[in-house]
Amino acid sequence: MESIKLNNGELIPNLGFGTWQLKPTGEAYNSVRTALDAGYRHIDTAHIYFNEGSVGRAIKDSGIDRKEIYVATKLWNWDHKKAEKAYERSLKKLKLDYVDLYLIHYPVSKTRIGAWKTLEKMYSEKRMKSIGVSNFTIKHLEDLMSKTSIVPAINQVEFHPFLYQKELIDFCNKHGIVLEAYSPLAHGQKLGDTTLADLAEKHKKSVAQIMIRWSLQHGNVVIPKSKNPDRIKQNIDIFDFELNDSEMQAIDALNENLHTCWNPEKTA
Ligand code: A2P
Repeated sequence: MESIKLNNGELIPNLGFGTWQLKPTGEAYNSVRTALDAGYRHIDTAHIYFNEGSVGRAIKDSGIDRKEIYVATKLWNWDHKKAEKAYERSLKKLKLDYVDLYLIHYPVSKTRIGAWKTLEKMYSEKRMKSIGVSNFTIKHLEDLMSKTSIVPAINQVEFHPFLYQKELIDFCNKHGIVLEAYSPLAHGQKLGDTTLADLAEKHKKSVAQIMIRWSLQHGNVVIPKSKNPDRIKQNIDIFDFELNDSEMQAIDALNENLHTCWNPEKTA
C-alpha cells in the first residue's frame, strides 16, 4: 500500500475499504474485520450508511493501534446546520476521539457553504485530521473555494473507467485536491467488459483488480467494497503489477459517463 500526501501534509493510504451498503449487522462488522486482517488500513464509512457502530467495534476488536488505521466518515444532508453535533455523534458511534477525514457527503445547494464553515472551525480546533467533500463537481468546488478559506483535502466522487472524469481530475490536481474514487468497480455492472477482460487475462488478474489498478495509477485514492472475504482480499492484491501507457489509454477510452449512483451535476 502507498500513501498520498494531502494539501495539509497529512498522509492517506491510497487504497481503502468502502462500507456503503454493508448492513449494520454482522455484515459490516465481519467485512471490516476481514479487511483489516487482509491488510487494509483505511476504512471509509458515513452517517447515512448506518454502520458506524459496527465499523467502530470492528476497529476496536481488531486490536490494531488506532494511529495505524485511517478512518473517514461523512456529514449527511439533514445535518448540515448542526455539523458539530453530527460529528460528535459519529465519533461516539465509531468509539473514536477523532477521525482522519470528515467529508461533506453531498453538495446540498443551500446549506453546503455554511456546513463547510463549521467544518473549517472544527478543523482549526484540531478535532479531525483533515476535511473534505464528496460528490462535488467543478461548479460546486469553485463556488466553495470562492466563499470559504480552506481548500478541501479530498473530493470523493464516483469514478471508474465508465465514468472517467478527466476534467474533474485535472481541476482537482490544479487546486491540490486529491480525488478519491468510490464505486471503482462501477458497482459491479461492468465486470463483463471485453477490453478489461483481455487485460485481466494478460496480467493474470481479475477485471476488478484491473479497474482498481487503473484508478490508482491516475493518482486517486480508491475505496472498493465487498462483503465477500475472497473478494475483499483480491481487491487489495493490486500492488504487484502495472498497466502501461497504452493499456491506461485503452481503459480511459471506455468512458461513457455512466453514473451508477448519484449525478450531482443536476444539483445547483
Ligand atoms: P460483493 O460484495 O458480493 O463482493 P463498487 O465498489 O464499485 O460499488 O462495487 C461493489 C460491487 O462489486 C458489489 O456488488 C460487490 O459484490 C462487487 N465486487 C467487489 N469486489 C469484487 C471483485 N473483486 N470481483 C467481482 N465483484 C466484486
